[in-house]
Amino acid sequence: MDEEARNGHPRRATTVVFERLFEARWTLVAAASVVCALHLATRPPLWMSVLALAVIIAVAALAPRRTISQRRADHAVGSGAPALDNLPVADLAAAVPDPLFVFDENGLVVHANAAAAVSFGSIGQGMILQMKFRAPEMQELIRGVLASGMPGAIDYAERVPVERVFRVVATPVGSDIGLFVLIFRDQSEARRIDRMRADFIANASHELRTPLASIAGFIETLRGPAKNDAVARENFLQIMQKQTGRMARLIDDLLSLSRLEMKPYLGPGSRVDVRETVEGVIDSLNPLAREFGVAIVKEMPASPVEIPGNRDELFQVFENLLENACKYGQSGGKVVVSIEESNAGPQPEVTVSFRDFGPGIAEEHIPRVTERFYRVDVDTSRAQKGTGLGLAIVKHILTRHNARLSIKSKVGEGATFTVHLPAGKTDAVSR
Ligand SMILES: Nc1ncnc2c1ncn2[C@@H]1O[C@H](COP(=O)(O)OP(=O)(O)O)[C@@H](O)[C@H]1O
Ligand SMILES: [Mg+2]
Repeated sequence: MDEEARNGHPRRATTVVFERLFEARWTLVAAASVVCALHLATRPPLWMSVLALAVIIAVAALAPRRTISQRRADHAVGSGAPALDNLPVADLAAAVPDPLFVFDENGLVVHANAAAAVSFGSIGQGMILQMKFRAPEMQELIRGVLASGMPGAIDYAERVPVERVFRVVATPVGSDIGLFVLIFRDQSEARRIDRMRADFIANASHELRTPLASIAGFIETLRGPAKNDAVARENFLQIMQKQTGRMARLIDDLLSLSRLEMKPYLGPGSRVDVRETVEGVIDSLNPLAREFGVAIVKEMPASPVEIPGNRDELFQVFENLLENACKYGQSGGKVVVSIEESNAGPQPEVTVSFRDFGPGIAEEHIPRVTERFYRVDVDTSRAQKGTGLGLAIVKHILTRHNARLSIKSKVGEGATFTVHLPAGKTDAVSR
């Protein structure tokens, strides 16, 4: 490391030379004495002795050497002692983001950091730690570290005011100074994610297992009792084909979700014409609507409606919503698809609504229909080739677009699903 870098600012060459000469002063005095002694003893021409002295001084001034200031700095950094010695322990504890208690060999609190006060309320100095944490496992942990002087760790759950799960570590400070620390690491979020993942896998496996079990049953019947029954065979094969279709749809939806999760943000924004996309969706679902006896009514602006976004993903959103409106709102016989541009809110937006006049959704189900595998009525959904993942995919895609879904419904009067898309003039899509 050169001197400039070390000191953080340029230094003049003359200053450096003087520092080096100062540092080598005793060596120079010794060298000069030797030259003088030799001069007196051997009496060479004066210029030779002067030249020898000049060479020694030049070498001392120019040879790279560590300066005193550098050595001091290195010493300070290397030992680290002065800096840590002066560090207030309370400041150090306050810098720890997890709740932390320092306690003495009698189990009395010596210090509780700010995070501890936030998580467990104020705990004064001198309080008995075991009075604060009465759960048997905490008592055991504290007793253990006090008795053995060995670190210990447990999982500890607090039930009120909300359920929280901690990994708690108790450990002595240094050796034989009679102080101990208790540190709480909050694991609640990690546990919640683990539980969600486990639930999701259980649901997905169950959804796949049901058609698989049905197919296995029919294969057994076809190989046994119905071996020579041509009518039954045709009937069973048809059911089996339906079940494989159901499994394929489920796997497609699961893959869609996992792809969306792998890339939570949109790439550099491209622009989409919402009107053209919705028209495309209506064209592709027209045969289904006809089959259900549902008329699709369009209320759309005459000109294109451009917003930042990904066309394929928004196509999937509108397709899911229109398909749901036709399937579940079939009894209403009509679905109104409308696009509106609005400048009323805090930012301009484009709304796309799908309104049906079917049975609607009861209030208590509305907040839950976008959850994975949540269906108001599982049998109806299955009968309509649903997987229970459509609205979860919709929600995922909309989040990627900084957009949201609102649902309004009155039982018996139908449901309206509205997509609110930010209408940024630039490529303001999240990325
Ligand atoms: N337009 C609607 N009218 C009534 N219920 C609806 C409507 N759209 C969705 N739902 C309810 O929300 C549930 C979840 O929808 P979705 O995630 O698309 O799954 P599915 O695969 O069952 O269609 C559906 O099973 C249905 O109960
Ligand atoms: Mg659906």
